[in-house]
Amino acid sequence: MSAVQELLLLPLALLALQASLCRGACVEVDSNTEAVVNEGFKLGCISCKKRGEVPATATVDWYFMASDETFYSPLYSYDYENKRDEITDSRFDDRLAWNGSKKTDDLQDGSIYILNVTFNDTGTYKCIFTRTLKYSNFHYPINTNKTIVMKVVPKLTRGLASILSEVMMYVTIIGLQVWLAIEMIYCYRKISAAGEEALRESAAEYLAIASESKDNCAGVQVAE
Ligand SMILES: *[C@@H]1O[C@H](CO)[C@@H](O)[C@H](O)[C@H]1NC(C)=O
Ligand SMILES: *[C@@H]1O[C@H](CO)[C@@H](O)[C@H](O)[C@H]1NC(C)=O
Ligand SMILES: *[C@@H]1O[C@H](CO)[C@@H](O)[C@H](O)[C@H]1NC(C)=O
Repeated sequence: MSAVQELLLLPLALLALQASLCRGACVEVDSNTEAVVNEGFKLGCISCKKRGEVPATATVDWYFMASDETFYSPLYSYDYENKRDEITDSRFDDRLAWNGSKKTDDLQDGSIYILNVTFNDTGTYKCIFTRTLKYSNFHYPINTNKTIVMKVVPKLTRGLASILSEVMMYVTIIGLQVWLAIEMIYCYRKISAAGEEALRESAAEYLAIASESKDNCAGVQVAE
């Protein structure tokens, strides 16, 4: 992202931050989908609890399907209540870390972090939230799941849409400025032309009045 875009996005980001700090608001942000090889990558998965007033517990399970596979296999599970955090896929041994909600058994953020991404990590990830709303006389289970199709790239590339939108932004800004300048010159010339015209008209009018009043004055003089 360019500095200009970041500058434009800054107030929005601050606003979002403020909203989340002030009201503890949960926002279901979609995960990034492009990971860079040999770097870390956060697989985001957020499931906001709709009934804020009802106590709940939640666990998160992640599944992975590599790009050349046709079924999901268990990848990772997190259960705060039972202090359980388990990597269930040997391909990811010692490479996954919890990046979700901490110190709560009422998870809303179930994100995980892949340390040192390899090209073999390309594929589809699915996160499943199992939340139990604890009403006084019954427990109500809810499942939410999200899938993330992750691509591994040698280094971060920018999507064509992003490049196009940046170009369009500059075209629009410069276009507006040029249009404004043309409009100002046009208006200035029109106004100054109108001003000269008005000046000429008022001069003519003045002369007319002057000559008329001279006549009147002459009349007065005659009357005396
Ligand atoms: C996610 O986990 C990684 C690895 O443990 C850590 O470096 C990073 O700070 C964590 N990020 C968040 C937002 O918790
Ligand atoms: C990441 O993995 C590659 C290949 O497995 C290895 O060469 C590299 O040292 C690792 N980097 C880190 C930061 O662990
Ligand atoms: C990726 O998968 C291939 C084939 O399964 C394997 O030979 C290779 O060692 C794997 N690479 C890494 C970095 O895990």
